[in-house]
Amino acid sequence: MDERVERIRRAADIIRERAKGFKPKVGIVLGSGLGKLGEQIEDPVVIPYREIPGFPVSTAVGHKGNFICGKLGGKDVVAMQGRFHYYEGYPMETVTIGVRVMKVLGIEYLFVSNAAGGTNLDCHVGDLVIIKDHINMMPNPLIGPNMEEFGPRFPDMTCAYDLELQALAERVGIEMGINLRKGVYFGVTGPTYETPAEIRFFREVGADLVGMSTVPEVIVARHCGIRVFGMSVMTNESNTRNIERNINDGEDVVKQADIAASRMSELFRRMIAELPI
Ligand code: HPA
Repeated sequence: MDERVERIRRAADIIRERAKGFKPKVGIVLGSGLGKLGEQIEDPVVIPYREIPGFPVSTAVGHKGNFICGKLGGKDVVAMQGRFHYYEGYPMETVTIGVRVMKVLGIEYLFVSNAAGGTNLDCHVGDLVIIKDHINMMPNPLIGPNMEEFGPRFPDMTCAYDLELQALAERVGIEMGINLRKGVYFGVTGPTYETPAEIRFFREVGADLVGMSTVPEVIVARHCGIRVFGMSVMTNESNTRNIERNINDGEDVVKQADIAASRMSELFRRMIAELPI
């Protein structure tokens, strides 16, 4: 068997051994400062990444490193509290391994979250933004021999972000009285934040948000037929409105994400409760 696939199956086996009888249909990836949602998961079984042989350990600020299996919105879920970024130096296969592990565990839906800079002049710090599409400027994680067990060589990306899940989020957002925006996410490698000229460029080509994660995971999820819902918390205004205020330090990102995390957690919980599974 493909050695990459063996590594994925071994990790899934360890999670299955630790969380016996657990059959998640929903996976969640928690981004920078958004790990709090993990605390809402009921009857949790926590499996630190370091206890999974061959698994990397997340080094990014604001990221823990655990799989959490348990119940959210009455459904079995598996959450990744902390993700891997390309800028940490991992190959794309490693950056996305968690998604394939969750696929082997049986997930049909993936909820991905992230902290992102806003390039849209109408967006504000703290906004929750439904990701409706992306522009990928990172290396594609499917480069290399295709993993036939997971999906086709040339996957379709026309509906990368599931339209029904977007509509569900909008309805639940209205019920909760929160103002949700919708936007296009521009995926960059980082680790530098953007120059003003880059931000102007991203805006010109139709991006509302910019960030250093999510896109590889979404591509890998779509490759293996998982339905995706993506949400960004706009943690900083990466625009040229006010260049002094635009100076980025990672701390602001984690702080703003923390403030938004409880609203996002409740939105995810209510959405998952309504999934037809
Ligand atoms: N740029 C890129 N990634 C980010 C940003 C940003 O401004 N904020 C949070 N993640």
